[in-house]
Amino acid sequence: MGAYALIGAQWGDEGKGKLVDYLASQAQWVARYAGGNNAGHTVINENGSFSLHLVPSGVFQPGVTCVIGNGVAVNPDVLLEEISGLKARGVDTSRIVLSDRAHLIMPYHVSLDALEEAERGDAALGTTGKGVGPAYVDKAARMGIRAGDLADLEAGLLPRLKSVVELKNRTLTKLYGAPPLPLEEVLDRCAHWRQELKGLIRPADVLLRKALERGETILMEGAQGTLLDLDHGAYPYVTSSSASAGGAAAGLGIPPRSIQGVIGVFKAYSTRVGSGPMPTEMTDETSDMLRELAWEYGVTTGRARRIGWFDAVAGRYSHRINGFTSLALTRLDVLDGFSSVKICVGYRVDGEPLDHFPSNAGVLERCEPVYEEMPGWNSPTAGATELAQLPTEAVAYVRRLEELIGCSFHLISTGPHRNETVLLERMI
Ligand code: GDP
Ligand code: IMO
Ligand code: MG
Repeated sequence: MGAYALIGAQWGDEGKGKLVDYLASQAQWVARYAGGNNAGHTVINENGSFSLHLVPSGVFQPGVTCVIGNGVAVNPDVLLEEISGLKARGVDTSRIVLSDRAHLIMPYHVSLDALEEAERGDAALGTTGKGVGPAYVDKAARMGIRAGDLADLEAGLLPRLKSVVELKNRTLTKLYGAPPLPLEEVLDRCAHWRQELKGLIRPADVLLRKALERGETILMEGAQGTLLDLDHGAYPYVTSSSASAGGAAAGLGIPPRSIQGVIGVFKAYSTRVGSGPMPTEMTDETSDMLRELAWEYGVTTGRARRIGWFDAVAGRYSHRINGFTSLALTRLDVLDGFSSVKICVGYRVDGEPLDHFPSNAGVLERCEPVYEEMPGWNSPTAGATELAQLPTEAVAYVRRLEELIGCSFHLISTGPHRNETVLLERMI
């Protein structure tokens, strides 16, 4: 009982979707608290293989209610399409709740994301182009449109929408020379969303607080990763929301002290999509081989993911930010067959050692990794479901990561399917 936050501990795509699907049978609620459809969470279970962008990964578990919380930026068209795609594949979507406080990604946000990236030129952030950043900008600027606003379209929303669309159109036309968005079109879209989403929009924070009072369990599903967190990532090469544990309570409206555990999800190596520093990035044939072998391509954009060895300096930092109570390691099987594996245990900047993750992206860019090399393993970890099936060298690698991060792995994932999992200790 209580709430458990499951957090991406690196640059996103750690395998959060797989783990939420695996752990959801222990919960009554699974709730997304941050990000939007920049996220792409893969779930593979007996129902098939799914890419989820907004619908929480607990949707396959009978009896679990899936909440899209106030901290999420929601593109209603994407949500409706995702729900209808799931329905068409026989998944029960009747227990999805959208917080009335969640901000909507409007058509002008998607346009502005692309235009702002083009304007940045060589300094582009490599966003997913889904309008997530511009939607959070409006939230902070008190210009956002929330799901709950759709209920009072004519009297409540229309006057605000009119002034916001006017302002956006001035930006689109005068600053970027792009065509304006007719107000009627935006309003029609809102009327359509009101009709289609009216059964889903509820006071999610109230529902979750009552669930906690009844002693139920909430699994808080993180999106992105700690190193992409707006405050704690390598700014400005970050996303626009609080991906780390601090964002979980705020993004759902439940008290921080109801969080009983914080689960950190690490991939056995590093990947990153988009721009920004990544000290252990490899650009040789090892990374090309690994990318193809492990199909390291973005679920949301299809972009090739950048690949590197495990960065334990970043891992330790991630633990400090989130205060993990347990860890999960994914994709250990991808390292099967390597003659040796490397771990970055420190950085050097301008010849000087640096033992922490710097706040400045320029400094991080200049960090050179200091590696420790460990023997690889000859027999496979792929598909293992018990610790005894893992080769000694693979276990030694996991133990060394624990030592360097400062927290224990309670789960090791050995394949993308829900069942390809070694549970060492109960997590929730
Ligand atoms: P998320 O965004 O954190 O949910 O992660 P993604 O779904 O974007 O990327 C993780 C990828 O790794 C997906 O293709 C998963 O199916 C896959 N995956 C998860 N765990 C494992 C694992 O233990 N082994 C292998 N080989 N693949 C995994
Ligand atoms: P999941 O939940 C990996 C990255 C983008 C870009 C930066 C900013 O699947 O782990 P944005 O569109 O958010 O303004 O882009 O953040 N990014 C992700 N990278 N996984 C994600 O989500 C990501 N969501 C955003 O590639 O570098
Ligand atoms: Mg992903």
